[in-house]
Amino acid sequence: MQRTLVKDALAAAAACDALLLQGWVRTRRDAKTFSFIELNDGSCLKGIQVIADSSLPDYAHIEKLATGAAISVRGRLVPSQGQGQKWEVVAESITVVGEADATYPLQKKGHSLEFLREIAHLRPRSNLFGAVFRVRSRLAYAIHRFFQERSFVYVHTPIITASDAEGAGDMFRVTTLDLEAPPKDADGRVDATQDFFGKKTFLTVSGQLEAEIFACALSNVYTFGPTFRAENSNTSRHAAEFWMIEPEVAFCDLDGDMTLAEEFVKYLIRDVREHCAADLEFFGKFVDKELLPRLDFVLEKPFVRCSYTEAVELLEKSGRTWEHPVAWGANLQAEHERFLTEEHFKCPVTVYNYPRAIKAFYMRANDDCAPGRETVAAMDLLVPGIGEIIGGSQREERLEKLRAGMALHHLDEKSYAWYLDLRRYGTVPHAGFGLGFERMLMFVTGVGNIRDVIPFARTPGTAEF
Ligand code: 4AD
Ligand code: MG
Repeated sequence: MQRTLVKDALAAAAACDALLLQGWVRTRRDAKTFSFIELNDGSCLKGIQVIADSSLPDYAHIEKLATGAAISVRGRLVPSQGQGQKWEVVAESITVVGEADATYPLQKKGHSLEFLREIAHLRPRSNLFGAVFRVRSRLAYAIHRFFQERSFVYVHTPIITASDAEGAGDMFRVTTLDLEAPPKDADGRVDATQDFFGKKTFLTVSGQLEAEIFACALSNVYTFGPTFRAENSNTSRHAAEFWMIEPEVAFCDLDGDMTLAEEFVKYLIRDVREHCAADLEFFGKFVDKELLPRLDFVLEKPFVRCSYTEAVELLEKSGRTWEHPVAWGANLQAEHERFLTEEHFKCPVTVYNYPRAIKAFYMRANDDCAPGRETVAAMDLLVPGIGEIIGGSQREERLEKLRAGMALHHLDEKSYAWYLDLRRYGTVPHAGFGLGFERMLMFVTGVGNIRDVIPFARTPGTAEF
């Protein structure tokens, strides 16, 4: 007999004489001649109620089943007597597939997120993490749908790379050299040419530069993969390993880029609202009471666009005392982002045209800037509760201006010869952005810590798997 998932059994159109369910015991309570088992198989938030009659063979065993045990149930789907669900299962046989004992850490009471983080191998079995990872899966699917519906080509950019795409220097080194006794060159320096890769290589921080290669051939492309940053930031929104989605669009400027980002974020919210309704309601009830109204509100209104210079003026005029002083030329800090999205505009805000000196070398220089006020066509999408979820820009497509940008950031042209070639041969205006997948998940679930939206968090001090 084929297995039926609990979600399909709960949504059945009609009763059924024979079905097979398999999953784990969530709870069990006993009446005089019955046991009521809540069976959960992870296919949906709810479990289904299974009624085990004392006349069943092996009832003595069933009666002692502990939370967490794996069972296989054959039985009949019948209208539920109780409230809250339409169907329940009258068991005709129950096979115990895998026992659990009383040391099983996930008991019926609520557990703290911190405790669940310590048992990352068991937490997917909890209601909250089951919901998080179902939404994560759906969100990934929606991301592909969004781009595939618009004829974007999915490009797999390398994980091991020689280029520091962001120029921020926070890369994990990848090497086959024996670091205990590395080969040295004549000057006594570690000789990277003897490495398997023949030069210094790292884990990628972004697939953008390689995505540009493909955008300059296939027009509209996107990447979706893991990225790595060795920044030692112990915050609730930074991880050393996170997933990023990076569209890159040829013949597109900053305006088009901001519009694409807004349509993308709204599409994703709409999709999970529709396809993960029960899980989102659960988050709205137990994680963040404001979640659903906030998501609905975000869908209704156009996002605010505000230049960096206007943002700085607003922050200066706010009359606040800031922990990090506000001055034209300084990066916006979390407290500033929070003010803009949560207090001033009270909605998502795209800040654009940032000072050139604080942004990456590849961003397009804006013409006609006042001296000392040079900006680039960059944009960050900031959302209430999280801050930056997207960073993007129009890329510098003019060869000489790109070379000037590289000089400003002290980059060696030889290492980026291929990148400069894109500007030598048929260069076009192009733009793109990166969406932090986990930050988007935090936004749609209301979960406040990045460690709780990624299956295996890679943050300082956590790598037991
Ligand atoms: O702003 P970032 O650094 O931009 C880039 O990497 C560009 N190359 C993207 C592009 O234009 N193609 O990173 C993009 C997004 C951020 O807005 C944030 O959501 C996420 O990636 N991000 C992180 N998420 C979790 N942990 C970290 N340490 C992150 N660093 C960036
Ligand atoms: Mg950024």
